[in-house]
Amino acid sequence: MAAVPLSELSLYPATPDQVLESRRRHAHQWRRKLSFEDYLLRDQIMDAQEQSVDKKMTTWVLAPRTDPTTLDFMCSCEIFRRIAISADPSDPAAGAKQVITCAIASVFTPPEKRKKGYAQHMMRLLHWVVAPRSALPDFPEAWGSPPEVPEELGLQKAQFSVLYSDVGKDFYQLCGPTAKPGGGWLASGAVETSWYADKAATGSTPGATSPHIWLTEDDAKHVWSLDVPFMRADVVEAAMTSGHTTISLLPTKGVGAYVIQRTMSFAADGTSVLPLDTWGVLLLPSSVVGVDEVFADLETQPTYATWTLDSLNETSRALVTTRVRASKETLPALLKVLTQFALKENIQKVEMWGLPEGLQAVASESGWKTSERTDHVSACKWYGKENESQLKWMFNEKFSWC
Ligand SMILES: CC(C)(COP(=O)(O)OP(=O)(O)OC[C@H]1O[C@@H](n2cnc3c(N)ncnc32)[C@H](O)[C@@H]1OP(=O)(O)O)[C@@H](O)C(=O)NCCC(=O)NCCS
Repeated sequence: MAAVPLSELSLYPATPDQVLESRRRHAHQWRRKLSFEDYLLRDQIMDAQEQSVDKKMTTWVLAPRTDPTTLDFMCSCEIFRRIAISADPSDPAAGAKQVITCAIASVFTPPEKRKKGYAQHMMRLLHWVVAPRSALPDFPEAWGSPPEVPEELGLQKAQFSVLYSDVGKDFYQLCGPTAKPGGGWLASGAVETSWYADKAATGSTPGATSPHIWLTEDDAKHVWSLDVPFMRADVVEAAMTSGHTTISLLPTKGVGAYVIQRTMSFAADGTSVLPLDTWGVLLLPSSVVGVDEVFADLETQPTYATWTLDSLNETSRALVTTRVRASKETLPALLKVLTQFALKENIQKVEMWGLPEGLQAVASESGWKTSERTDHVSACKWYGKENESQLKWMFNEKFSWC
């Protein structure tokens, strides 16, 4: 049980010192090959990037009401305020509405404060920070007063919030906006379709690939911006054909770039370096030569993949696609380019998140396997009248991870 009664605690936007303390605390957990100092430096650099500036990213701490700025806070997390789209099948004229979503990250309680209910309480209070009060039930009396949320943070406006659980499906699902267990983030669409270099049948990937252009990080950003109208149209169509409210985050505004920048490390002279120059590939239909032309061609759907890297263990790494657009006809050619790139770069696994079922079947014909993810389990909490289980989350891919 909590050493401090829950009513004596609340959730506060972290002071700069608390932000640093929270990062120091979780460095050990998430720094991987970065040194402690470089882990802090990477976060500091990323604070100035598009996904975080203008108070889009804020750190929150669960702390005593009597001493909200203490460095001895109970636990912490990060909120990324992002743009999303939502289409309601009962309102076709509205199309894909732009809405605000909040992505929750870096939920952390230091070992000596664990198992006292602090993280659970923080997650329950988070709904009161991100969602409009009108979308929530009465605030539980036993918790004291609700968190105060400064207007300039642009919070309390989310239509939904998302997170990626590394502690299974139950923990976050149990944390709803009241003391009653349940009503929290519902796991949704956590699937990966993967290919392993060591299991690839010899001779399965060599051979001529379709014409393509490699994408730098800037090219990837450009491609995402060209893809957004297609994503909007797909979300509306999915809502109308499925009869379910359909949502998606968007890879623009620094969101997709965030997962590229997270791969940053540092050279001996302290300059930041990324492990790759190439972060995507776009297939070129015949007689088309440039990125803009591919997206302007109304006859053919663009086919592309963008990606980031993840480490599998000390020595091997995975390429994880951040966003894939392909049809059943074009996917095999895209897979071939991806696997050849992986082999060339000594990447042991290629992983695609949230591939639509029809494409999973096509990938399986090329030897790819689809399975449920047990880590980074995507989960969503909806602050509208529908239940999370009735929602369709499209483009539930790595680009929106944080
Ligand atoms: C997960 C974490 C935030 C929980 O913090 P906490 O303040 O101890 O959480 P609470 O006391 O509110 O709840 C404890 C419950 O969380 C759940 N939980 C904690 N760690 C878990 C794990 N690794 N897997 C599954 N469930 C877990 C359990 O249900 C546990 O209850 P139990 O001890 O009775 O089994 C904390 O263990 C932590 O910081 N871990 C390292 C970082 C991390 O993995 N963060 C989550 C990223 S998605």
